[in-house]
Amino acid sequence: MRTPVKLKARGVAATLVEHVPSGGLRPLAQPPAGSGLEPVMGDPGMPVVGHTLEFLHDGLRQTRRYYERLGTVFWLNTVGGRWVQVIGPDGLETVLTNRDEAFSNKLGWDPLIGAFFDRGVMLMDFEEHRHHRRIMQQAFKHERLVGYLEKMNPAIERGIAGWQSGSGFQLYRAAKQLTLDVATEVFVGAERSAEADRLNASFIDVVVGGQAIIRADVPGGKWHRGLESRRLLERYFHSQLAAKRVSDGDDLFSVLCRAQSEDGERFSDDDVVNHMIFTLMAAHDTSTITLTMMGYYLARYPEWQDRLREESRALGKGAIGYEDLDALTSMDLVFKETLRMNAPVGTLARRAITDTELDGHYIPQGTNLMLGIYATQRMDPWWRDPDVFDPERFSDARREDASHKYAWTPFGGGVHKCIGMHFGSMEVKAILHQLLLRNRWRIPIGYEPVFDYGTGPFPGDGLPIELLPLHP
Ligand code: HEM
Repeated sequence: MRTPVKLKARGVAATLVEHVPSGGLRPLAQPPAGSGLEPVMGDPGMPVVGHTLEFLHDGLRQTRRYYERLGTVFWLNTVGGRWVQVIGPDGLETVLTNRDEAFSNKLGWDPLIGAFFDRGVMLMDFEEHRHHRRIMQQAFKHERLVGYLEKMNPAIERGIAGWQSGSGFQLYRAAKQLTLDVATEVFVGAERSAEADRLNASFIDVVVGGQAIIRADVPGGKWHRGLESRRLLERYFHSQLAAKRVSDGDDLFSVLCRAQSEDGERFSDDDVVNHMIFTLMAAHDTSTITLTMMGYYLARYPEWQDRLREESRALGKGAIGYEDLDALTSMDLVFKETLRMNAPVGTLARRAITDTELDGHYIPQGTNLMLGIYATQRMDPWWRDPDVFDPERFSDARREDASHKYAWTPFGGGVHKCIGMHFGSMEVKAILHQLLLRNRWRIPIGYEPVFDYGTGPFPGDGLPIELLPLHP
């Protein structure tokens, strides 16, 4: 998931953010007399754009700076409005567990991605969400995952076989194409074809539309193309529904058509289509960014690349099965550390639907909140040496993530916790395993990746690596 906009004018932004004027600290709202709560303090930043440029250029630095001044809860004007930023495991736990049902997912995400992903399960609340999640869960059970992995391994092999060795290999771009091709087969149950390529292109347009800076339906604009592509995807999925309903296929689309909760509840046609479009989006950039950033760290720390390759070789299999995942312990350490350092869904949106409190602060009804997962995972009150890549921190001997249940939350928490967590982990590891057996790769000395920021950091320069055959 990546929303809502991408920063293009890096140089201009870099200059501007050095000079973001503070509009002066102000309370968000006065707490009720006698409540004992503190007001949330913050500042509006520059006229019109507020703190948006700084947020998109380097949101982590911004958050660290405001944490020093204001603590774990503060407000800023960013990304189209006023957002209360919440960092630290305690605040994340309160909002994500949502025990008082004070926070809405739908109203939080809607202004950012609602036009493209309305009726996705992440944009539902409470009883309706429970109903849809119960049915959807059937598509992510253990035996289903085993089947998806068997289906994806040959697609991975075909995809990687086309990767040409050489310098300047754009890992992010190649990973994007590969995860799209895997999704075509495993999610949609379609063969690679001209039609599948058109579907992929439409899907990308929908995702890009959701990130458009100009959020207006102007012909020729990204938003407009995104909406048209969304309609095309809807038409495609609807046209396949009757056949999928009666098929015994084991792709996600067929499974969602047949899925029934334990109480016999099923999805309507519209539900299946909406969940397909949302799930494709939720799975795509997240897995791609994780894979790309793992590739980057393995290039930067070749001793870890060697260690993972040895581990993969020791399995003695060209492709992993579900039962092999537990044996890839070093790969799991790198997976976790990469998600700590570069959480792709590093910011979550919520809206308070009743007056409530957070870390001793008064949050009035209607407040929009951004939950800083990425920032929490990269700040030293909660992690030692947070900018240092150190996968061993997740080893049984250290378990630094166990300091708080919500210190490491790249998959979120509570009832909306990522339903595709095991799927995503399995896909990334299945790809990396095959790549480790086929290639080695490196980056030039001194290379630093260039990041853009959406809901989290992602490689803005395509992450060029030098890809080498293992046995030239
Ligand atoms: C490394 C990969 C992934 C990461 C880091 C990730 C992260 C997240 C996060 C943080 C949320 C919570 C959103 C919220 O609370 O507002 C979420 C929700 C979700 N994710 Fe993932 N995700 C990943 C892969 C996947 C995959 C592969 C799929 C599908 C196959 C998927 C499907 C979903 C769905 C359907 C939801 C909404 C669940 C609900 O609201 O009940 N994700 N993901």
